[in-house]
Amino acid sequence: MDTYAVIGNPITHSKSPFIHTQFAQQTGRSMCYTTLLAPLDGFERTVTTFRENGGIGLNITVPFKFEAYALATRLTDRARAAHAVNTFRFEQENEILGDNTDGVGLVRDITINLDFALPGKHVLLMGAGGAASGVILPLLQQKPGLLAIANRTPDKAIALQQQFVNHGNITGGHYQDFIGQQFDLIINATSASLHNALPPIPADLFHGTALVYDMLYSSKLTPFLEFASTQGVTNLVDGTGMLVEQAAESFLLWHGIRPETQNVIRQLRDELH
Ligand code: ATR
Repeated sequence: MDTYAVIGNPITHSKSPFIHTQFAQQTGRSMCYTTLLAPLDGFERTVTTFRENGGIGLNITVPFKFEAYALATRLTDRARAAHAVNTFRFEQENEILGDNTDGVGLVRDITINLDFALPGKHVLLMGAGGAASGVILPLLQQKPGLLAIANRTPDKAIALQQQFVNHGNITGGHYQDFIGQQFDLIINATSASLHNALPPIPADLFHGTALVYDMLYSSKLTPFLEFASTQGVTNLVDGTGMLVEQAAESFLLWHGIRPETQNVIRQLRDELH
């Protein structure tokens, strides 16, 4: 049977096996999708063994997305722009195609599932690490009026601005630099929610905001979504839809068919809440 897995450390709580099993049932594919724990210093070794044992594709999660980028022998444009890879497809002659489906997963969740049109909108993206850099190109391809990157360490946001300056209207700085501006959509791509922390976002920035999005999925409101709600924002969304959509895009790369996502998102939300 065709074997796939998600590789990471830690990995036991991954929802990917559940999601891909749903997709396989729905599309009539027979495949096996498991979790693969790699030692922190053993990513490449674990990938090689998986492949030698007949593995066909992998999803890659924290903390290996940059190592995966380096290990891939071919990259999609969006993976090259992200400098990070979350999907491998093993190909002939030991080639490894590296893709990054995180950004398109976020964009599909926002534009299709949440029916929020991005063209012309002012978007604030919080964070300048791997999670943020992975979604910038797909966001810019939607032609927002402005994509502002805010980070605690502003130099990293400015570096991202410089990296993507030819792809759209993008600016970078510290959170404070954006006081007085109005954003239609604010996305949290920091890892702060993982530590139950709130990034230093001034309350003033939520003025007139229609949607706030935390890329983390969680059983309760993250501190960021909680704070946005106290500032009067009512449209508060976590990353469950993004998680399912990025998985669907990986499934498409492997099997050439796009699975239906709505029911899977609903099931995951029911399970989490
Ligand atoms: P990831 O791959 O999840 O993006 P990362 O590359 O380590 O992880 O980046 C973490 C991001 O979250 C960074 O933008 C970090 O800000 P700094 O660059 O200033 O470190 C941000 N971050 C983490 N904890 C935060 C906190 N408590 N408040 C604000 N930003 C935080």
